[in-house]
Amino acid sequence: GQSPAEYIKQHIRTVPDWPSPGIQFRDITPLLSNPRVFRVLIDQFVHRYFDLRPSAIAGLDARGFIIGSVLAYELNVGFVPIRKKGKLPFTTVEETYELEYGSATVEMHTDAVKPGDRVLLIDDLIATGGTMMAGMRLLERLGAQVIEGAAIVDLPELGGSQRLRAGGLRVHTLVS
Ligand code: PRP
Ligand code: HPA
Repeated sequence: GQSPAEYIKQHIRTVPDWPSPGIQFRDITPLLSNPRVFRVLIDQFVHRYFDLRPSAIAGLDARGFIIGSVLAYELNVGFVPIRKKGKLPFTTVEETYELEYGSATVEMHTDAVKPGDRVLLIDDLIATGGTMMAGMRLLERLGAQVIEGAAIVDLPELGGSQRLRAGGLRVHTLVS
């Protein structure tokens, strides 16, 4: 009688005071190490995106790579990485965004997507939404259409998913 979302939620570990005091870190590694949970997790995305038919999947560094690549394989579409600055060897476009303290920059290869591509953007978790917003901007600058931003976890109290929706992105998450 338990829903897939409840089953997934049960296997997210909360680590208090990491990486700094007062932060409750939602750790998704138990979802990956348990093969039954991992399959339920990926199947949730497969069922949704089998019909929505993205032409490519863009995964956010680093945990977006794990679920994004498995999903791309299953849907028979290509996978493109959006990486933290300084990791990609070919010509790139970059976007800088604000963090609580300081800023971060993400990059994509200029030939990773083409105008007209229908891209699914995926990550493990949405907190402030800054990372996913930067990924959306990169994809749009290269002419791609971002059909949806997906994540396993939304932290609604941080307002990220709301901010992304206000910025015109469709957002789909499995648990809050
Ligand atoms: C985490 C998480 C998302 C992002 C969410 O990654 O995996 O990518 O932060 O936060 P935001 O919505 O406020 O942008 P992190 O920066 O810890 O990088 P990592 O995956 O390389 O550890
Ligand atoms: N878990 C994983 N990534 C994160 C978190 C979290 O709780 N908060 C911000 N990024």
